[in-house]
Amino acid sequence: MASGDLALVLMAAGKGTRMRSSLPKVLHPVCGRPILMHAVQLGRELGARRVVAVVGSGEDQVREVLADEDVEIVVQSEQLGTAHAALQARALLEDHEGPVLVMNGDHPLYRASTFNDLLDTYRKGSAELAILVAEFPNPTGYGRIVRNSDGSVARVIEEDDADAATKEIREVNLGAYLASSELLFQCLSKVGNDNAKSEYYLTDVIEIAAQEGRRVETSSTDDWTETLGVNSRVELAEAERLMRRRLAEYWMREGVSFVDPDCTYLDCDVEIGPDTRIEPGVTLKSGTRIGSGCRIDSGAVIENTTIGDDCWIKPQCWLEGARLAARVVVGPSAHLRPDTDLADDVRVGNYVEIKNSRLGPGTKADHLSYLGDSDVGSGVTIGCGAITVNYDGTSKSRTVIGDRVFVGCNSNLIAPVEIESGAYIAAGSTINKEVPDGALAIARARQRNIEGWRDRRFGKKDGKD
Ligand code: UD1
Ligand code: CA
Repeated sequence: MASGDLALVLMAAGKGTRMRSSLPKVLHPVCGRPILMHAVQLGRELGARRVVAVVGSGEDQVREVLADEDVEIVVQSEQLGTAHAALQARALLEDHEGPVLVMNGDHPLYRASTFNDLLDTYRKGSAELAILVAEFPNPTGYGRIVRNSDGSVARVIEEDDADAATKEIREVNLGAYLASSELLFQCLSKVGNDNAKSEYYLTDVIEIAAQEGRRVETSSTDDWTETLGVNSRVELAEAERLMRRRLAEYWMREGVSFVDPDCTYLDCDVEIGPDTRIEPGVTLKSGTRIGSGCRIDSGAVIENTTIGDDCWIKPQCWLEGARLAARVVVGPSAHLRPDTDLADDVRVGNYVEIKNSRLGPGTKADHLSYLGDSDVGSGVTIGCGAITVNYDGTSKSRTVIGDRVFVGCNSNLIAPVEIESGAYIAAGSTINKEVPDGALAIARARQRNIEGWRDRRFGKKDGKD
């Protein structure tokens, strides 16, 4: 039994040339989380005591993403290959007591349970170097596992160095290597670059260890969905599809209904309560929390928003940074912008935009309104087309509306302004002064009918000539 805490080395310095991107490959998101952060998360799930990231290409961008994480960073200034990358962690981990797990930073779908099996293989003492492998129907692009006649692992041969017979091998290396720091760094320092790419291949450690009589064991996964390494945008889209399906299945097991899980776009950092029903074509982005018994209709895009129980989000709504209490109904085609706070039983209808505003319980804004920088009480009716005029071209001001206020259709409330509780605003009013409790404010031109005007203007009959 090898004792000691686990240390994780994440190799994330590669250029990711095949992505053709100004963003480092490991920062491309898969279901809202950068590929590299999937690996950091895995390290946490495995209880890794130390996580070391090897960064290089796009170093500043990668550092920024890791800034708030408990991750140590080492720099590989030239990308000379995966063995060279892993060696950069030597100064930090040379004296590490427990096992060191070196991992590709470009496998967002790895599962913790698979790595626990790998750790078991190592910890139960049968392996001094344990590597993760899988049988692939189409192994193209991956390093092949070459075994001796007794079945023991001899070496890994990379695609570019493989002859036709080797290319037939379907057992592939998945880019995760577990050993003591002593064995790992000792073997790494012996790796050369005499190969098709003139790179220092981490995979050569396997042959070096085997030749030194060290016990090399494999641990495998038969779940092909977790094996994908992302090297291109095609693989990125495939990883996203697999992860999304995995997330949907998780939430289905938790009691959420998806009418069509393959047409629902879910990020990792999303929570959904039981008996919520998600229609096709819904996008739930990071930071979204949805309660139970909700209905989320097609075309809704929801990000960083909290939704209470029994809410109904109708088709084509865009919710960003909003908070909804219980039984709130929104849409169709409504836009809730950051710091929108809707209390219980609020109703927000079609073509309504709200930002930085609080609406009290039972308040309704059913059609075509804009509410910005406002504090609206309970039981308020915002008539069709009524808006807050919150911006004078220079600064923003608040509109305060008390409880049970009735704001007539097509009113303009020019902020800063306060409408006290129980006040009524006549339709079409432009309000720029306080309206007292219980008053009716009418602020529009009085109607004047000019009798007989058409006939005088156009002559008798129908006025056409
Ligand atoms: C690697 C393995 C291959 C395995 C495959 C699984 C090697 C030589 N080959 O191939 O056997 O089947 O992963 O996906 O290791 N990196 C650095 N510095 C470098 C080069 C790479 O940090 O100098 C990082 C990359 O950012 C990436 C990881 O190492 O996260 C793997 O590198 P990549 O070039 O993608 O290796 P593969 O060709 O996929
Ligand atoms: Ca790769």
